[in-house]
Amino acid sequence: MHVGVVGAGYVGLVAAVGLAAAGHDTAVAEADPAKLAALREGRVPFYEPGLQEWLDSVAARMTFVESAGSLPPCDVVLIAVGTPSGPSGQTDLTQVRQAVREVAATARPGTVVAMKSTVPPGTGLELVRAYLEPAGRDLAYVSNPEFLREGKAVDDWLHPDRVVVGAAEPGAGERVAELYRHLGAPLLMTDITSAEMVKYASNALLATKISFINEIANVCELVGAHIDDVARGVGMDPRLGSHFLQAGIGYGGSCFPKDTRALDFTAALNGYSFELLTAVIEVNRRQRIRVVQRLHEALGGLAGRSVAVLGLSFKPGTDDTRESPGVEIARMLAGAGAEVRAYDPVARLSQEAEQVLGPGARRTATLAEAVAGAQAVVVATEWQEFREADWAAVRRAMERPWVIFDGRNCLDGEAMESLGFTYFAVGRQV
Ligand code: UGA
Repeated sequence: MHVGVVGAGYVGLVAAVGLAAAGHDTAVAEADPAKLAALREGRVPFYEPGLQEWLDSVAARMTFVESAGSLPPCDVVLIAVGTPSGPSGQTDLTQVRQAVREVAATARPGTVVAMKSTVPPGTGLELVRAYLEPAGRDLAYVSNPEFLREGKAVDDWLHPDRVVVGAAEPGAGERVAELYRHLGAPLLMTDITSAEMVKYASNALLATKISFINEIANVCELVGAHIDDVARGVGMDPRLGSHFLQAGIGYGGSCFPKDTRALDFTAALNGYSFELLTAVIEVNRRQRIRVVQRLHEALGGLAGRSVAVLGLSFKPGTDDTRESPGVEIARMLAGAGAEVRAYDPVARLSQEAEQVLGPGARRTATLAEAVAGAQAVVVATEWQEFREADWAAVRRAMERPWVIFDGRNCLDGEAMESLGFTYFAVGRQV
Protein backbone atom coordinates (compact mmCIF):
# COMPACT_ATOMS: atom_id res chain seq x y z
CA MET A 1 0.00 0.00 0.00
CA HIS A 2 0.91 3.66 -0.19
CA VAL A 3 0.90 4.94 3.36
CA GLY A 4 1.21 8.51 4.62
CA VAL A 5 2.16 9.33 8.19
CA VAL A 6 1.66 12.81 9.63
CA GLY A 7 4.04 13.52 12.52
CA ALA A 8 7.49 11.99 13.03
CA GLY A 9 7.44 11.69 16.81
CA TYR A 10 8.19 8.32 18.34
CA VAL A 11 4.73 6.93 17.44
CA GLY A 12 4.64 8.28 13.88
CA LEU A 13 8.21 7.47 12.96
CA VAL A 14 8.17 3.96 14.44
CA ALA A 15 4.91 3.26 12.59
CA ALA A 16 6.34 4.67 9.36
CA VAL A 17 9.55 2.64 9.60
CA GLY A 18 7.61 -0.47 10.64
CA LEU A 19 5.28 -0.15 7.65
CA ALA A 20 8.17 0.54 5.28
CA ALA A 21 9.87 -2.57 6.65
CA ALA A 22 6.68 -4.53 5.86
CA GLY A 23 7.00 -3.45 2.22
CA HIS A 24 4.74 -0.39 2.02
CA ASP A 25 5.82 2.83 0.32
CA THR A 26 5.74 5.31 3.16
CA ALA A 27 5.72 9.10 3.10
CA VAL A 28 6.14 11.02 6.34
CA ALA A 29 5.05 14.63 6.91
CA GLU A 30 6.99 16.51 9.60
CA ALA A 31 6.37 20.22 10.18
CA ASP A 32 9.40 20.93 12.38
CA PRO A 33 12.14 22.06 9.93
CA ALA A 34 15.02 20.79 12.12
CA LYS A 35 13.44 17.34 12.48
CA LEU A 36 12.59 17.22 8.79
CA ALA A 37 16.16 18.11 7.84
CA ALA A 38 17.50 15.36 10.13
CA LEU A 39 15.12 12.80 8.63
CA ARG A 40 16.05 13.79 5.09
CA GLU A 41 19.67 13.12 6.02
CA GLY A 42 18.60 9.72 7.32
CA ARG A 43 18.87 10.57 11.03
CA VAL A 44 16.29 9.81 13.76
CA PRO A 45 15.76 13.19 15.48
CA PHE A 46 15.22 11.73 19.00
CA TYR A 47 16.54 8.92 21.17
CA GLU A 48 14.77 5.61 20.65
CA PRO A 49 16.84 2.43 20.95
CA GLY A 50 17.08 0.44 17.71
CA LEU A 51 15.17 2.90 15.56
CA GLN A 52 18.15 4.39 13.72
CA GLU A 53 19.37 0.99 12.51
CA TRP A 54 15.85 0.07 11.44
CA LEU A 55 15.42 3.34 9.55
CA ASP A 56 18.77 2.78 7.82
CA SER A 57 17.54 -0.55 6.52
CA VAL A 58 14.32 0.79 4.94
CA ALA A 59 15.23 4.37 4.03
CA ALA A 60 14.88 3.58 0.31
CA ARG A 61 11.12 3.06 0.72
CA MET A 62 10.56 6.28 2.66
CA THR A 63 10.11 9.92 1.67
CA PHE A 64 9.79 12.97 3.89
CA VAL A 65 7.65 16.04 3.22
CA GLU A 66 6.93 19.21 5.17
CA SER A 67 3.16 19.00 5.63
CA ALA A 68 0.14 16.72 5.52
CA GLY A 69 -1.02 18.66 2.48
CA SER A 70 2.12 17.70 0.52
CA LEU A 71 1.80 13.94 0.99
CA PRO A 72 1.64 11.94 -2.25
CA PRO A 73 -1.62 10.01 -3.01
CA CYS A 74 -2.10 7.38 -0.27
CA ASP A 75 -4.40 4.45 0.52
CA VAL A 76 -4.15 5.19 4.25
CA VAL A 77 -2.91 8.30 6.07
CA LEU A 78 -1.97 7.76 9.73
CA ILE A 79 -2.12 10.84 11.94
CA ALA A 80 0.40 10.80 14.78
CA VAL A 81 0.78 14.42 15.83
CA GLY A 82 1.01 15.79 19.38
CA THR A 83 -2.06 16.23 21.57
CA PRO A 84 -0.70 18.24 24.51
CA SER A 85 -2.86 19.01 27.48
CA GLY A 86 -4.10 22.44 28.40
CA PRO A 87 -4.09 23.88 31.94
CA SER A 88 -7.34 22.18 33.03
CA GLY A 89 -6.55 18.85 31.46
CA GLN A 90 -8.41 19.52 28.24
CA THR A 91 -6.69 18.21 25.11
CA ASP A 92 -5.23 20.70 22.68
CA LEU A 93 -6.36 19.38 19.30
CA THR A 94 -4.79 22.15 17.20
CA GLN A 95 -2.29 19.89 15.46
CA VAL A 96 -4.84 17.12 14.93
CA ARG A 97 -7.34 19.50 13.36
CA GLN A 98 -4.69 21.02 11.13
CA ALA A 99 -3.57 17.58 9.93
CA VAL A 100 -7.11 16.32 9.24
CA ARG A 101 -8.04 19.57 7.54
CA GLU A 102 -5.03 19.34 5.21
CA VAL A 103 -5.60 15.69 4.42
CA ALA A 104 -9.30 16.36 3.76
CA ALA A 105 -8.36 19.12 1.34
CA THR A 106 -5.76 17.19 -0.63
CA ALA A 107 -6.24 13.41 -0.32
CA ARG A 108 -7.51 11.45 -3.30
CA PRO A 109 -11.08 10.06 -3.07
CA GLY A 110 -11.41 6.93 -0.97
CA THR A 111 -8.39 7.60 1.28
CA VAL A 112 -8.69 6.24 4.81
CA VAL A 113 -7.62 8.60 7.60
CA ALA A 114 -6.44 6.60 10.63
CA MET A 115 -5.98 8.43 13.92
CA LYS A 116 -3.04 7.22 16.01
CA SER A 117 -2.81 10.36 18.14
CA THR A 118 -4.58 9.98 21.47
CA VAL A 119 -7.77 12.03 21.17
CA PRO A 120 -10.65 12.28 23.67
CA PRO A 121 -13.62 9.97 23.11
CA GLY A 122 -16.03 11.62 20.69
CA THR A 123 -13.31 13.48 18.78
CA GLY A 124 -13.29 11.13 15.78
CA LEU A 125 -16.99 11.56 15.05
CA GLU A 126 -16.58 15.30 15.40
CA LEU A 127 -13.63 15.36 12.96
CA VAL A 128 -15.67 13.38 10.43
CA ARG A 129 -18.51 15.91 10.62
CA ALA A 130 -16.21 18.95 10.59
CA TYR A 131 -13.70 18.00 7.88
CA LEU A 132 -14.17 14.67 6.09
CA GLU A 133 -17.88 14.80 5.22
CA PRO A 134 -17.75 18.39 3.93
CA ALA A 135 -14.84 17.41 1.62
CA GLY A 136 -17.37 15.15 -0.19
CA ARG A 137 -14.77 12.69 -1.51
CA ASP A 138 -15.63 9.51 0.31
CA LEU A 139 -12.84 9.88 2.88
CA ALA A 140 -13.19 7.33 5.70
CA TYR A 141 -12.09 7.76 9.30
CA VAL A 142 -10.66 5.05 11.54
CA SER A 143 -9.53 5.27 15.15
CA ASN A 144 -6.36 3.22 15.55
CA PRO A 145 -4.89 3.88 19.00
CA GLU A 146 -1.24 3.12 19.65
CA PHE A 147 0.13 1.30 22.70
CA LEU A 148 3.90 1.71 22.16
CA ARG A 149 6.13 2.50 25.11
CA GLU A 150 8.94 5.00 24.69
CA GLY A 151 12.30 3.31 24.89
CA LYS A 152 10.76 -0.01 23.78
CA ALA A 153 8.85 1.29 20.78
CA VAL A 154 10.55 -0.83 18.12
CA ASP A 155 10.00 -4.05 20.00
CA ASP A 156 6.44 -3.05 20.91
CA TRP A 157 5.67 -2.32 17.25
CA LEU A 158 6.88 -5.75 16.20
CA HIS A 159 5.11 -7.57 19.04
CA PRO A 160 1.84 -5.77 19.80
CA ASP A 161 -0.48 -7.23 22.46
CA ARG A 162 -3.42 -6.18 20.32
CA VAL A 163 -4.42 -4.06 17.37
CA VAL A 164 -7.49 -1.89 17.95
CA VAL A 165 -9.39 -0.55 14.98
CA GLY A 166 -12.50 1.59 15.42
CA ALA A 167 -14.45 2.27 12.24
CA ALA A 168 -17.89 3.25 11.04
CA GLU A 169 -17.45 1.30 7.78
CA PRO A 170 -16.01 -2.24 7.85
CA GLY A 171 -14.09 -1.74 4.58
CA ALA A 172 -12.07 1.18 5.99
CA GLY A 173 -11.36 -0.72 9.21
CA GLU A 174 -10.23 -3.76 7.19
CA ARG A 175 -7.80 -1.66 5.19
CA VAL A 176 -6.13 -0.37 8.37
CA ALA A 177 -6.16 -3.84 9.98
CA GLU A 178 -4.39 -5.13 6.85
CA LEU A 179 -1.37 -2.98 7.72
CA TYR A 180 -0.85 -5.01 10.90
CA ARG A 181 -1.82 -8.49 9.66
CA HIS A 182 1.80 -9.68 9.33
CA LEU A 183 2.43 -8.97 13.01
CA GLY A 184 -0.02 -11.71 14.05
CA ALA A 185 -1.56 -9.77 16.96
CA PRO A 186 -5.15 -10.21 18.17
CA LEU A 187 -7.41 -7.73 16.38
CA LEU A 188 -10.27 -5.85 18.04
CA MET A 189 -12.72 -4.10 15.71
CA THR A 190 -15.03 -1.57 17.37
CA ASP A 191 -16.86 1.64 16.64
CA ILE A 192 -14.79 4.84 16.57
CA THR A 193 -15.60 6.16 20.05
CA SER A 194 -15.03 2.79 21.77
CA ALA A 195 -11.56 2.52 20.19
CA GLU A 196 -10.76 6.00 21.49
CA MET A 197 -11.96 4.92 24.91
CA VAL A 198 -9.82 1.74 24.91
CA LYS A 199 -6.71 3.91 24.82
CA TYR A 200 -7.77 6.12 27.74
CA ALA A 201 -9.09 3.22 29.79
CA SER A 202 -5.80 1.34 29.30
CA ASN A 203 -3.57 4.22 30.33
CA ALA A 204 -5.88 5.17 33.22
CA LEU A 205 -5.85 1.61 34.58
CA LEU A 206 -2.06 1.38 34.29
CA ALA A 207 -1.74 4.72 36.11
CA THR A 208 -4.20 3.43 38.72
CA LYS A 209 -2.03 0.37 39.33
CA ILE A 210 0.98 2.63 39.91
CA SER A 211 -0.81 5.01 42.28
CA PHE A 212 -2.39 2.04 44.07
CA ILE A 213 0.92 0.28 44.69
CA ASN A 214 2.45 3.60 45.77
CA GLU A 215 -0.26 4.04 48.39
CA ILE A 216 0.24 0.44 49.55
CA ALA A 217 3.96 1.25 49.80
CA ASN A 218 3.25 4.31 51.90
CA VAL A 219 1.19 2.17 54.29
CA CYS A 220 3.95 -0.49 54.28
CA GLU A 221 6.32 2.15 55.63
CA LEU A 222 3.97 2.83 58.54
CA VAL A 223 3.31 -0.80 59.48
CA GLY A 224 6.83 -2.08 58.80
CA ALA A 225 6.06 -4.27 55.74
CA HIS A 226 8.32 -4.65 52.68
CA ILE A 227 6.72 -3.44 49.42
CA ASP A 228 8.82 -5.64 47.13
CA ASP A 229 7.55 -8.79 48.84
CA VAL A 230 4.01 -7.41 49.00
CA ALA A 231 4.00 -6.55 45.27
CA ARG A 232 5.47 -9.94 44.43
CA GLY A 233 2.78 -11.72 46.42
CA VAL A 234 -0.01 -9.63 44.88
CA GLY A 235 1.36 -10.15 41.37
CA MET A 236 1.26 -13.94 41.71
CA ASP A 237 -2.50 -13.76 41.23
CA PRO A 238 -2.95 -13.78 37.44
CA ARG A 239 -6.16 -11.77 37.84
CA LEU A 240 -4.06 -8.92 39.22
CA GLY A 241 -0.91 -9.38 37.11
CA SER A 242 2.65 -8.76 38.17
CA HIS A 243 3.31 -5.79 35.86
CA PHE A 244 3.08 -2.15 36.87
CA LEU A 245 3.42 -2.85 40.57
CA GLN A 246 6.78 -1.12 40.94
CA ALA A 247 6.43 1.42 43.74
CA GLY A 248 8.39 4.64 43.55
CA ILE A 249 8.04 8.35 43.02
CA GLY A 250 5.22 7.98 40.53
CA TYR A 251 4.59 8.02 36.82
CA GLY A 252 5.71 10.70 34.39
CA GLY A 253 6.12 11.04 30.66
CA SER A 254 4.12 12.34 27.76
CA CYS A 255 1.22 9.91 28.18
CA PHE A 256 -0.02 8.92 31.65
CA PRO A 257 -0.12 12.42 33.19
CA LYS A 258 -1.77 13.91 30.11
CA ASP A 259 -4.18 11.07 29.42
CA THR A 260 -5.39 10.72 33.01
CA ARG A 261 -6.07 14.44 33.18
CA ALA A 262 -7.81 14.36 29.79
CA LEU A 263 -10.09 11.47 30.79
CA ASP A 264 -10.88 13.17 34.08
CA PHE A 265 -11.72 16.34 32.15
CA THR A 266 -13.80 14.52 29.50
CA ALA A 267 -15.78 12.74 32.21
CA ALA A 268 -16.41 16.03 34.02
CA LEU A 269 -17.38 17.73 30.76
CA ASN A 270 -20.00 15.06 30.28
CA GLY A 271 -21.32 15.56 33.80
CA TYR A 272 -19.53 12.67 35.52
CA SER A 273 -17.15 13.03 38.43
CA PHE A 274 -14.50 10.30 38.01
CA GLU A 275 -13.36 10.30 41.62
CA LEU A 276 -11.11 7.26 41.46
CA LEU A 277 -9.15 8.80 38.60
CA THR A 278 -8.95 12.18 40.33
CA ALA A 279 -7.41 10.38 43.33
CA VAL A 280 -4.92 8.52 41.10
CA ILE A 281 -3.69 11.87 39.77
CA GLU A 282 -3.47 13.40 43.24
CA VAL A 283 -1.61 10.41 44.71
CA ASN A 284 0.92 10.70 41.88
CA ARG A 285 1.46 14.38 42.62
CA ARG A 286 1.94 13.76 46.34
CA GLN A 287 4.33 10.88 45.81
CA ARG A 288 6.89 13.37 44.49
CA ILE A 289 6.32 15.80 47.32
CA ARG A 290 6.99 13.01 49.85
CA VAL A 291 10.60 12.86 48.64
CA VAL A 292 11.07 16.55 49.31
CA GLN A 293 9.41 16.24 52.74
CA ARG A 294 11.62 13.29 53.68
CA LEU A 295 14.78 15.17 52.68
CA HIS A 296 13.57 18.24 54.55
CA GLU A 297 13.33 16.12 57.73
CA ALA A 298 16.55 14.21 57.18
CA LEU A 299 18.64 17.30 56.41
CA GLY A 300 17.00 19.54 59.02
CA GLY A 301 15.71 21.93 56.34
CA LEU A 302 16.56 22.42 52.69
CA ALA A 303 17.81 26.01 52.38
CA GLY A 304 21.52 25.97 51.53
CA ARG A 305 21.68 22.14 51.53
CA SER A 306 23.39 20.48 48.61
CA VAL A 307 21.35 17.77 46.89
CA ALA A 308 22.14 15.65 43.83
CA VAL A 309 19.26 14.42 41.68
CA LEU A 310 20.16 11.41 39.54
CA GLY A 311 17.82 10.86 36.60
CA LEU A 312 15.98 13.49 34.60
CA SER A 313 14.28 11.42 31.93
CA PHE A 314 10.90 10.13 33.11
CA LYS A 315 12.13 6.54 32.92
CA PRO A 316 15.24 4.71 31.68
CA GLY A 317 15.74 4.17 27.96
CA THR A 318 14.48 7.58 26.84
CA ASP A 319 15.75 11.15 26.77
CA ASP A 320 12.19 12.43 27.27
CA THR A 321 11.90 14.78 30.26
CA ARG A 322 8.20 15.61 29.88
CA GLU A 323 6.43 15.55 33.28
CA SER A 324 9.47 13.78 34.66
CA PRO A 325 9.45 13.14 38.43
CA GLY A 326 13.22 13.83 38.57
CA VAL A 327 12.84 17.25 36.97
CA GLU A 328 9.88 18.09 39.20
CA ILE A 329 11.73 17.04 42.36
CA ALA A 330 14.82 19.04 41.33
CA ARG A 331 12.58 22.07 40.80
CA MET A 332 10.84 21.66 44.17
CA LEU A 333 14.15 21.25 46.01
CA ALA A 334 15.61 24.31 44.30
CA GLY A 335 12.42 26.21 45.08
CA ALA A 336 12.90 25.35 48.76
CA GLY A 337 16.41 26.85 48.67
CA ALA A 338 18.55 23.75 48.12
CA GLU A 339 21.53 23.82 45.78
CA VAL A 340 20.63 21.16 43.26
CA ARG A 341 22.93 19.40 40.86
CA ALA A 342 21.21 17.03 38.48
CA TYR A 343 22.67 14.36 36.25
CA ASP A 344 21.22 12.07 33.60
CA PRO A 345 23.14 9.86 31.17
CA VAL A 346 20.83 10.51 28.21
CA ALA A 347 18.56 13.47 28.97
CA ARG A 348 21.74 15.52 29.06
CA LEU A 349 21.63 15.38 25.27
CA SER A 350 18.32 17.18 25.21
CA GLN A 351 18.45 20.97 25.11
CA GLU A 352 14.98 21.13 26.58
CA ALA A 353 15.98 19.62 29.93
CA GLU A 354 18.16 22.58 30.81
CA GLN A 355 15.28 25.02 30.47
CA VAL A 356 12.77 22.91 32.36
CA LEU A 357 15.06 22.51 35.36
CA GLY A 358 14.64 26.14 36.33
CA PRO A 359 16.87 28.46 38.36
CA GLY A 360 18.68 27.01 41.40
CA ALA A 361 19.25 23.65 39.74
CA ARG A 362 22.21 22.94 37.50
CA ARG A 363 22.89 19.96 35.30
CA THR A 364 26.25 18.25 35.40
CA ALA A 365 28.04 16.23 32.75
CA THR A 366 28.89 13.34 35.08
CA LEU A 367 27.51 11.53 38.09
CA ALA A 368 30.72 12.28 40.03
CA GLU A 369 30.26 16.02 39.50
CA ALA A 370 26.65 15.87 40.71
CA VAL A 371 27.40 14.06 43.97
CA ALA A 372 30.64 15.85 44.96
CA GLY A 373 29.99 17.60 48.27
CA ALA A 374 26.28 16.69 48.27
CA GLN A 375 24.57 15.96 51.57
CA ALA A 376 21.83 13.96 49.91
CA VAL A 377 21.26 12.08 46.68
CA VAL A 378 17.90 11.30 45.09
CA VAL A 379 17.73 8.47 42.56
CA ALA A 380 14.79 9.50 40.38
CA THR A 381 15.28 7.22 37.35
CA GLU A 382 16.48 3.62 37.54
CA TRP A 383 19.19 3.91 34.89
CA GLN A 384 21.62 0.97 34.83
CA GLU A 385 24.47 3.45 35.41
CA PHE A 386 23.02 4.26 38.85
CA ARG A 387 22.46 0.63 39.83
CA GLU A 388 26.07 -0.14 38.89
CA ALA A 389 27.65 3.05 40.27
CA ASP A 390 30.60 2.83 42.65
CA TRP A 391 28.56 3.82 45.70
CA ALA A 392 31.55 3.58 48.03
CA ALA A 393 33.20 6.32 45.94
CA VAL A 394 29.96 8.31 45.94
CA ARG A 395 29.81 8.06 49.73
CA ARG A 396 33.41 9.33 50.01
CA ALA A 397 32.67 12.26 47.69
CA MET A 398 29.58 13.31 49.65
CA GLU A 399 29.21 15.14 52.93
CA ARG A 400 27.42 14.35 56.18
CA PRO A 401 24.68 13.11 56.76
CA TRP A 402 25.08 11.02 53.54
CA VAL A 403 21.39 10.65 52.79
CA ILE A 404 20.24 8.63 49.83
CA PHE A 405 16.62 8.58 48.69
CA ASP A 406 16.13 5.65 46.33
CA GLY A 407 13.02 6.87 44.54
CA ARG A 408 12.85 3.78 42.31
CA ASN A 409 13.74 1.10 44.86
CA CYS A 410 16.53 0.06 42.54
CA LEU A 411 19.47 -0.14 44.97
CA ASP A 412 20.44 -2.66 47.61
CA GLY A 413 19.42 -0.87 50.82
CA GLU A 414 21.48 -3.08 53.12
CA ALA A 415 24.61 -2.52 51.05
CA MET A 416 23.95 1.22 51.09
CA GLU A 417 23.60 1.26 54.86
CA SER A 418 26.75 -0.76 55.31
CA LEU A 419 28.57 1.89 53.26
CA GLY A 420 27.41 4.48 55.80
CA PHE A 421 24.47 6.01 53.94
CA THR A 422 21.21 6.93 55.62
CA TYR A 423 19.04 5.05 53.14
CA PHE A 424 15.40 5.80 52.30
CA ALA A 425 13.28 3.96 49.75
CA VAL A 426 9.56 3.77 48.99
CA GLY A 427 7.65 1.21 51.02
CA ARG A 428 10.58 -0.49 52.67
CA GLN A 429 13.21 0.33 55.27
CA VAL A 430 16.23 -1.15 53.50
C1 UGA B 1 2.76 4.39 28.31
C2 UGA B 1 2.07 3.02 28.13
O1 UGA B 1 2.77 2.00 28.84
C3 UGA B 1 1.99 2.65 26.65
O2 UGA B 1 1.26 1.43 26.49
C4 UGA B 1 1.28 3.77 25.90
O3 UGA B 1 1.24 3.51 24.50
C5 UGA B 1 2.02 5.08 26.12
O4 UGA B 1 2.06 5.37 27.54
C6 UGA B 1 1.26 6.15 25.38
O5 UGA B 1 0.13 6.43 25.75
O6 UGA B 1 1.76 6.62 24.35
P1 UGA B 1 5.30 5.24 28.37
O7 UGA B 1 4.74 6.57 28.76
O8 UGA B 1 6.33 5.17 27.30
O9 UGA B 1 4.11 4.26 27.88
O10 UGA B 1 5.95 4.63 29.67
P2 UGA B 1 5.74 3.43 30.71
O11 UGA B 1 6.82 2.45 30.52
O12 UGA B 1 4.36 2.92 30.68
O13 UGA B 1 6.01 4.19 32.08
C7 UGA B 1 5.27 5.35 32.46
C8 UGA B 1 5.69 5.85 33.82
O14 UGA B 1 5.22 4.98 34.84
C9 UGA B 1 7.19 5.98 34.04
O15 UGA B 1 7.47 7.20 34.68
C10 UGA B 1 7.53 4.80 34.92
O16 UGA B 1 8.66 5.06 35.73
C11 UGA B 1 6.27 4.69 35.75
N1 UGA B 1 6.03 3.33 36.30
C12 UGA B 1 5.77 2.28 35.48
C13 UGA B 1 6.04 3.14 37.68
O17 UGA B 1 6.25 4.09 38.47
N2 UGA B 1 5.79 1.89 38.19
C14 UGA B 1 5.54 0.83 37.38
O18 UGA B 1 5.29 -0.27 37.91
C15 UGA B 1 5.53 1.03 35.99
